[in-house]
Amino acid sequence: MILLCAPDALAEGQSRGFQLGNIRLLAVRRHGQAYVYENRCPHRHVPLEWQADGFLDDSGSLIRCATHGALFLIESGECVAGPCAGDALHALACREDDQGLWVQTD
Ligand code: FES
Repeated sequence: MILLCAPDALAEGQSRGFQLGNIRLLAVRRHGQAYVYENRCPHRHVPLEWQADGFLDDSGSLIRCATHGALFLIESGECVAGPCAGDALHALACREDDQGLWVQTD
């Protein structure tokens, strides 16, 4: 596994973008739990953010693609609205310990 960030680098309700080699990732924390996905929209395979570290919709409860507005559940990556509805973000296994947030890359 690869250490993505320090324990306090992803606050509750926050999203962040990361670059691991040539893989773009995004991490979100919701209800204490961290989720990590590949930062790649299933619709046109482009990065999702609308500004640096800005991956969430106005309510902060869904991940939103900046290009055509697809909305994804934070907990599963499932697309629930937009041109790729029914598709999903690619999730990466992750865990947290005293050192921070670790991700499993493929
Ligand atoms: S590229 Fe993401 S919704 Fe079209």
